[in-house]
Amino acid sequence: MGTATMHAVRLHAFGEPEELLYEEVARPEPGPGEVLVRVHAAGVNPPDWYARRGFENFPVELRPNWTPPLILGSDISGVVTALGPGVTEWRPGDEVFGLVNFPGRASGYAEYAVSPAAHLAPKPATLGHTEAAAVPMAGLTAYQFVFTHLRGRIGSTVIVNGAAGGVGHFAAQLVRVAGAQQVIGVASGRHEDFLLGLGVDRFVDYTRTPAESVARDVDLLLDTVGGHRLLPNVRRGGRIAPVILGDYHPERAAELGIAVETMRQVRSSGSDLAGLAALIDTGRVRVAVDSVFPLRDAAAAHARAERGHLQGKIVLDVMG
Ligand SMILES: NC(=O)c1ccc[n+]([C@@H]2O[C@H](COP(=O)([O-])OP(=O)(O)OC[C@H]3O[C@@H](n4cnc5c(N)ncnc54)[C@H](OP(=O)(O)O)[C@@H]3O)[C@@H](O)[C@H]2O)c1
Repeated sequence: MGTATMHAVRLHAFGEPEELLYEEVARPEPGPGEVLVRVHAAGVNPPDWYARRGFENFPVELRPNWTPPLILGSDISGVVTALGPGVTEWRPGDEVFGLVNFPGRASGYAEYAVSPAAHLAPKPATLGHTEAAAVPMAGLTAYQFVFTHLRGRIGSTVIVNGAAGGVGHFAAQLVRVAGAQQVIGVASGRHEDFLLGLGVDRFVDYTRTPAESVARDVDLLLDTVGGHRLLPNVRRGGRIAPVILGDYHPERAAELGIAVETMRQVRSSGSDLAGLAALIDTGRVRVAVDSVFPLRDAAAAHARAERGHLQGKIVLDVMG
């Protein structure tokens, strides 16, 4: 660490949002293969609040051994300000965004963050930094499921469960890009106009609609919520792609001839992110921001996340 400082939000103890404190800390310096980014906006994601709570929802043996004080946050959008040794693909002044070092530790809730050069992509020209910071983790999760893990196996009719959330709203659009003919978005009632506006063919309010009425014989259930509620809606020979660990009743799925894909974790990838950015810049994928908070109010952003029912992403404005 050098002597320069910056503002950042640090988690001082695992627990409630109030443990996130805005303060002055040392500014990081880029190491070999890394760049220093002046962060303009930082996205807020479920792993951030899992970390804040000390990963209490993880099995003990899977809990990362992190010790506060910690700067959380893996989604950033900003401007390259310095290059570490060996970096040739970026120059100071480049506008970039990225999912930094995931799975692993990153420190995006700050005025400056270092990132491996390969985890960044040019910021979409059609987005400001606030919207761009909403993209990386959720967008890459959906993108990698659709174009890598399920490549060529999307089918014609797709249910996206949790369709209004961070991952869900990208997934609902990307399955269409990948060729789905009918996209059914499942979410709570207030998201109807939002999801129809994103191009889903049918909106289903899970708070009012019994599971058996959602749809029959779909090719794919892309599930960001978890559980086996929509298992019978998948056709024999169809598949479930779980974005989260959940009980998908594997024996029952096997009886019904439904394949349950392995749950896959999103990975940092500047090249995948560039592919997604191209879809955004050509207008084929839109980005939804649920709410924006100043960096110093990261605790309020986490409190918003705790209330759930997100429509798109929560973003921290680092310049405000
Ligand atoms: N595999 C990976 O690498 C990966 C990557 C990112 C995230 N994830 C996981 O994926 C999950 C979703 O992440 P996210 O960022 O999209 O979260 P999010 O933005 O909080 O979205 C969750 C959405 O689910 C909806 N929902 C809640 N209960 C529902 C139900 N019973 N039926 C249908 N929709 C329901 C919520 O709104 P409404 O209830 O109002 O509809 C909300 O829009 C999280 O568990 C996260 O940990 C996994």
